[in-house]
Amino acid sequence: MRKLESAPHGLHGQLEVPGDKSISHRALMLGAVATGTTTIEHWLPGADCLHTLQALRDVGVIIERQGTQVTVQGQGGAQHFTAPTAPLEMGNSGTTTRLLMGLLSGAPFTSTLVGDASLQQRPMQRVTTPLAELGVTIDLTEAGTLPAHVHGGPVHGGTVRLAVASAQVKSAVLLAGLTAPEPTVVVEKLPTRDHTEIMLRQFGAEVTTAADHRTITLQPHPQLTGQTVVVPGDLSSAAFFLVAATIVPNSEIRLTNVNLNPTRTGILRVLTEMGADVTVQPMTSAGEPRGDLIVRSQQLRPIHLTASEIPAVIDELPLVALLAATANGTSTIRGAAELRVKETDRIAVLKTELEKLGVTVSEYPDGLAITGRPEWQPQTTQLDSHGDHRIGMMLAIAALRSQTPLTLQNESAVAVSYPQFFTDLEHLREGS
Ligand code: S3P
Repeated sequence: MRKLESAPHGLHGQLEVPGDKSISHRALMLGAVATGTTTIEHWLPGADCLHTLQALRDVGVIIERQGTQVTVQGQGGAQHFTAPTAPLEMGNSGTTTRLLMGLLSGAPFTSTLVGDASLQQRPMQRVTTPLAELGVTIDLTEAGTLPAHVHGGPVHGGTVRLAVASAQVKSAVLLAGLTAPEPTVVVEKLPTRDHTEIMLRQFGAEVTTAADHRTITLQPHPQLTGQTVVVPGDLSSAAFFLVAATIVPNSEIRLTNVNLNPTRTGILRVLTEMGADVTVQPMTSAGEPRGDLIVRSQQLRPIHLTASEIPAVIDELPLVALLAATANGTSTIRGAAELRVKETDRIAVLKTELEKLGVTVSEYPDGLAITGRPEWQPQTTQLDSHGDHRIGMMLAIAALRSQTPLTLQNESAVAVSYPQFFTDLEHLREGS
């Protein structure tokens, strides 16, 4: 259990957040199937990415890591991976699981993927159904969950229409398509984060995105060549401090070198619409856009989010709920049923934890209504991450403006995406 600190003097100073989680996973995987060496800088050593790293080592990829610098010796394709001697451990990581299902489709062996109690509850048919359309057989439990047995072998191309808006599923299809002799076309329900497409292009593949932003085509037999990947800061991690500096009075902070890919910047649009004071200073860079963010505290107005806005802010919805809890009036988040199948059922958990703070919350099957108030009246002192990293960090941010001392149970979950979160938070809290 961790005692959470308040920030009576606000947050101040400058911070570079750790590397982007999505990009860190992808750099390892593309490095593993490319020809030659890939060097990754500012890689995220969070538990999820470490599971990807270990799983790739377990199929014969040589990877060296010194802190946030990683070198991957490419195998020249999944066909050259070697069979693992034990089940591959996915831990808590949905991204590792779903992307590897795609990558391992082209390997010449069967691999078994296992995960922790949370991951074992999460739906996997969303990946196995589209991969089956490319000729890939993956066995799951009757409930459609892990363990998964991925029967690697020949993959064919084709057009796959996805039933859920998920970058993980889209990426799994594209990674499976790397070994197909025909083009692979993915049609998304709504546009989702496009890191896989951007990085595939960087490594030399021909990937086109149609004007609808939903139809992606991968040409067959790409010659992937090892690259240097400099991972930008994770906007999903920066978002905790963007929100903190907004809702804690007398704050002013600068976050440097943050990924500003427009498929991820929904939180910036939400903050602006709610009346926050955020300045974006873009940097010129090839590939993934990046820049600095300057934030000062501000009183907020409510917001109403609907389905088409959800993918670009999916991981930040716990923070949107927190912003709403401080705004004058009632906010709604709808079209976000995906929240129920994240690391926890985030709709249920957000209601439980925000109600502990004295905030009025009602639940919809696909979202939440939250009525904010300037001062909360906590009903208890014990908050709980429920083992969900993003819930744990959001609650630590909420506590910054609490008048009552609060504690957090299961705080170690933050290591999934942001091992040094509490140290970085302390740096900004002491920056005054
Ligand atoms: C991710 C995609 C998102 C996101 C997850 C990382 C990725 O999941 O929630 O944290 O790296 O592709 P979905 O694509 O399933 O929405």
